[in-house]
Amino acid sequence: MSSQTPDPSGDSSASPDTGSFLRTKDVETVLHQNDADGEGHGASLSKRLKVRDLIGFGVGIVIGTGIFTLTGVQAKENAGPAIVVSFAIAGVVSMLAALCYAELAAAVPTAGSSYTYAYTTIGEVFAWIIAWDLILEFALGSAVVARGWSGYLQDALNLPTSVFGEDSTVNVGAVLIVAVLGAIAAVGVRESAWVTNALVVVKVAVCIFVIVAGAFFVKAANLVPFVPESRTPEGGQTTSGLKEPLWQWVSGVQPTAFGIGGVMIAAAVVFFAYSGFEAVANLGEESENPARDMPRGLIGTLGLCTLLYLAVCFVLTGMVDYSKLSEGAPISDAFHQVGLDWAGFLIGLAAVAGLSSVILVEIVALSRIGFALCRDGLLPPSIGAIHPRYKTPFRFTVGISIVIALFAAFIPLATLAEMVSIGTLFAFLVVAIAVAVLRHTKPDMERPFRTPLVPLVPILAGASCVGLMSFLAVETWLRFLVWLAIGLAVYVLYGRKHSVLGREGVDSAFDDTSATA
Ligand code: ALA
Repeated sequence: MSSQTPDPSGDSSASPDTGSFLRTKDVETVLHQNDADGEGHGASLSKRLKVRDLIGFGVGIVIGTGIFTLTGVQAKENAGPAIVVSFAIAGVVSMLAALCYAELAAAVPTAGSSYTYAYTTIGEVFAWIIAWDLILEFALGSAVVARGWSGYLQDALNLPTSVFGEDSTVNVGAVLIVAVLGAIAAVGVRESAWVTNALVVVKVAVCIFVIVAGAFFVKAANLVPFVPESRTPEGGQTTSGLKEPLWQWVSGVQPTAFGIGGVMIAAAVVFFAYSGFEAVANLGEESENPARDMPRGLIGTLGLCTLLYLAVCFVLTGMVDYSKLSEGAPISDAFHQVGLDWAGFLIGLAAVAGLSSVILVEIVALSRIGFALCRDGLLPPSIGAIHPRYKTPFRFTVGISIVIALFAAFIPLATLAEMVSIGTLFAFLVVAIAVAVLRHTKPDMERPFRTPLVPLVPILAGASCVGLMSFLAVETWLRFLVWLAIGLAVYVLYGRKHSVLGREGVDSAFDDTSATA
């Protein structure tokens, strides 16, 4: 049923094989298993999505709190008007990663995306780490968007700041939206296609409106100096100690805010704004023609979002002096500041609607990841069991929604966003490695799309991910390492022994229990 790498211990006779944490799944087996899953858990994985659907889905999950909220904080604290350069740098790094994703998504079209790519190339323990990392990315990502949602709602309706937005002690608004959307995801009431499409149109329309209407209010004076001079952070609070970027901590360079270093710090944080485009790769099984459309869907999503982001950043910092940007709802606030209150109000409401869809899609994506891990025996099957009535991994969805709500209640948006950035960059790094490894180990595999200039592009992709990660704060690295360590412990104590792949002869632990939710 599966191919395995030799047991590093040399004990290839072990049965069941619980020792080889570098075992790999066979590509053909994965594709075959996908077909079985389509029937097995009742998901409709019919091949019906066209390239415009893929881009619509991608834009729907990508445009969110990154552009609507983080732009304000990062322009104000780190980059000034050069926030547009930060977005451009993060966009280039994402595009390099997208070229790598495109090769694997076209060759191995599977709902598991990077988790499965790692499982078929570099081994089970790496696949697990990727999945563990994806849980971090999507769970904290939805917490970030929930806090952004709360900030925009507070701004639009003038709600009490004690329970809505970034100044709250307990962000009740964010908890509420997670509770509602978590419940919707758990009972499997998906947004209807037209609601999803309408929200995507709303978000793109807001961006275009901001660019066109805002352009009339751009003042050259606001864009000068374009890169504010680097300066010692006031009171040393913003970038010293655990809060300073890793590379400064390692090199001993004096922490500064703004300047080129500030632009790079902002690039690492606003990388969050691009996170999620890789979810297009999860639709591989549902794409009409994955070989042709996955690369177009991934690269098209990213290209469109990058153009919108750059234009919005330019206009926003041209409308309002960067030091006066709002941290909670910078885009609608900018319109209030230039006297267009009606536009600010409408943008606020549109942002609230648009951000809701991101949260829901992220929770649904999480439930799929949880399902896959339980099916593969890396988490207890009972946690991911399909609910007989709702046909969703009910327990996992409810459990993860509670965790998301707790994060959204107490942890500041910027802190959570940094965690998502480091998690996403790490996943991209692994995908870049997987492309290079697979070229070497499976040179004859059919590749409808080939990443150009291999190994140069994967090396550049990987190196630029590590480069951006080095601009994230030491405390973010520590939190991320703790998260990975917990993940490794779970794998060593549970997944390694219960892995379906490791227990040859056991067809699917999951099937045995999936009806017992
Ligand atoms: N990229 C998404 C956002 O910016 C997650 O909200």
